[in-house]
Formats: sequence, structure tokens, C-alpha cells
Amino acid sequence: TSTKPLSELLAQTEFSDDDIVRLLGLTDPEECEALRQRAFDVTTEKTGNNVYLRGLIEVSNICTANCRYCGIRKDNHTVERYTLTEESIVACALHALHEGYGSIAIQAGERRDPKWIAWISRLLERIHKETVCEELPTGLGVTLSLGEQTYEVYKEWAEASGNPTGLRYLLRIESSNPRLFAELHSTPGKHEKILEHRYQALRDLRRAGYQVGTGVMIGLPGQTLEDLMRDIRTFGEMGADMIGMGPYITSNGADMTALGMMEKRPLMQLALNMISTTRLVMPDINIAAATALETLEPNGRVRGIRHGCNVIMPNITPQTTRASYQLYDNKAGTEVGPESNVLVERNIVEMTGRTLGLNLLGSSRRWAAR
Ligand code: 5AD
Repeated sequence: TSTKPLSELLAQTEFSDDDIVRLLGLTDPEECEALRQRAFDVTTEKTGNNVYLRGLIEVSNICTANCRYCGIRKDNHTVERYTLTEESIVACALHALHEGYGSIAIQAGERRDPKWIAWISRLLERIHKETVCEELPTGLGVTLSLGEQTYEVYKEWAEASGNPTGLRYLLRIESSNPRLFAELHSTPGKHEKILEHRYQALRDLRRAGYQVGTGVMIGLPGQTLEDLMRDIRTFGEMGADMIGMGPYITSNGADMTALGMMEKRPLMQLALNMISTTRLVMPDINIAAATALETLEPNGRVRGIRHGCNVIMPNITPQTTRASYQLYDNKAGTEVGPESNVLVERNIVEMTGRTLGLNLLGSSRRWAAR
């Protein structure tokens, strides 16, 4: 490994695998701060001073998958399952529009039955029709987070959205280490998910015209700095437009017994180093400050923005169902009212010196440049 001064390393625009591992592993407070400052400056220079909002709507917690880390996996029978009505989702979308959010994210458990696929299509058509306006001629921006689907389904949803070239999709790879991925998604004798299928899904999304987002969990049991370095390389290889990633947090409803990083402070620092380093390697992408950061630490998302994030995803799901969307323990925001107010978000963003990008779609610059 190299011994060049950190200041020299931070001024680079190309990074070796060793450079990346070194940045990820920083623990000295002054060195961490130098990395943070550089990532913040690169963000300003390459993506501007705006932080964009995606109003997150947790549409349904019904799931056919059994991801071992996740509290809403199929075999967790202690969760009460729900699906919001079309009316209440459209009401959330209109609320987001009037608050100036510019875009929403529609998230649910993974389902592939034809009725569900068709229902989502109808929902997208309606959201588009009801949100086209003078400020947003394409209607609200929409990010889908609905798991692995086929190319045909992605196509159908893109067309239904009325905005086939402006639609986005988030599909995390969770980990690029095939062994770790298999551990996270398999129970004895049963491979629930296959990493290669996830990559195929991401290629299909690209081909179907989406802005493609992915990401990983940070601090997984057995995960090394080399794994995280490979994750960043993988984001680059697939040309990701957006990244959403956060710390791995244990979940009562999960069935993983192996423990991740139990101490909050080092886990938080690792997650922040991962955000900053990803920003340095991929300067012009959108990076979201995950809710899981907020779960580890009050104002976690403020720290995310200060470390290179330029997107936040306030939860605008109706209060009544939030507690049932418990992906992990003590998920932040389950106690806040549905009237998630843009003033709260403005406060968070302005604490960092950034401005809130109101009434803007906030597309990824990397995608726009393509
Ligand atoms: N800790 C942190 N993140 C989690 N997710 C699911 N379970 C957990 C957990 N225990 C994340 C996954 C998934 C996203 C919707 O939520 O990365 O892609």
C-alpha cells in the first residue's frame, strides 16, 4: 500500500484499488474530515449546491422474497401486511407536488404477479395525469423501487409513467461479493436470489430507458474494506446514475444470526467514508442520504449531505402504516406525522450550507450527460 500524503491522494481524479481501500479505512478524525471536505467540494463542483427531494411512499410491505437481513421478508409472520389504496397514494403524490418535492419514490416488497404489475401501471398513469402542471411539465419525477422484474415489465411501467425517459429505478445489489450475496439471500438448500440475476435486471433497466440506481449495505457481517472497494468499482462498471446506500442494522424480523458492526460510531464513520469515497470516484452521480443513517444517529442525514450526498428521501407514507414497514430495528421516521413538511427538510439541508432543490426533478448529471 502507498504512503503518499493524504492531501495528495485526495487531489487525484483517478484512484487505484489501494487508494480506495485506504480512504474507506480512515479513522483519524482529521483525516476523515479531510476526506469529507474534499467530497463535499467535489459534490458542489460537479452536481451544484442543490439537494433534491424524493418523497418516499412505502406502498406495500407484502413481499415474496426472503432476504435474510430484512424485517419484511416473506417468512416473517409477525408483520401485519398492508397495501395502500390507490386513492391514498395519489393523495401522497399530490401532497408531495404541493410541497415542491419535484419527485417521489414508490417502494414496496417484491411481487411479480400480473395483477400487481397492472395495478402499478395504472397507478403510474394516474400519478402522471394528476401531477402534470406548469412547474413540472412532465409531472412529478418518479423513482420505482419494486425489486427484480422482467424487461417487459420495466418497459410497461416506463410507458405507463408518461415520462419514459425520465423514470428512475432503484435496485441495490446489497453486496458485489458473490459469497456474501449468497449468504444474505439463501437458506439451506434454497438460493432465494442470484447476484447474476440482479446484474441482469440492472442491465434490463438501462435498456428500458431508466436512470439506474443501485447500492449496498455497509458493515455487513464478514464484509471487508476490499469488498466495499469492489462495490464502488462495480457501481462504476455498470455506469450507475444514482447510489443509495446505508449501514446494515440488525432487524428483529430478520433471520440472520451473524452480527454486523455493533458499535454505532465506527459503523457511522465507515458509512460516511463509503459515501465520500464513492463521490470522489463517481463525481457526477446522485447519492441519496439513506434513512438508515438517521437510525444510527440523530441528524445522520445532515452528516450524509456534508459527506457528499445530494438527495434526501423524506418519508411521506401515511402515518398509519409506517410502523409495518420495519426493514430493520428502530427505523427512523416511523413516529413523525405524515405532514412531512418541506420546512423540516429545508432546515436539514440548510444546516449543511446547501439549498433545497424545490420543484425540480433533479436528474442525475451523469445520466443527463449520456
Ligand atoms: N439494515 C439496513 N438496510 C436494510 N435494508 C433491508 N434490510 C436492512 C437492514 N437490516 C435495505 C436493503 C434494501 C432496502 C430497501 O433496504 O438494502 O435494498
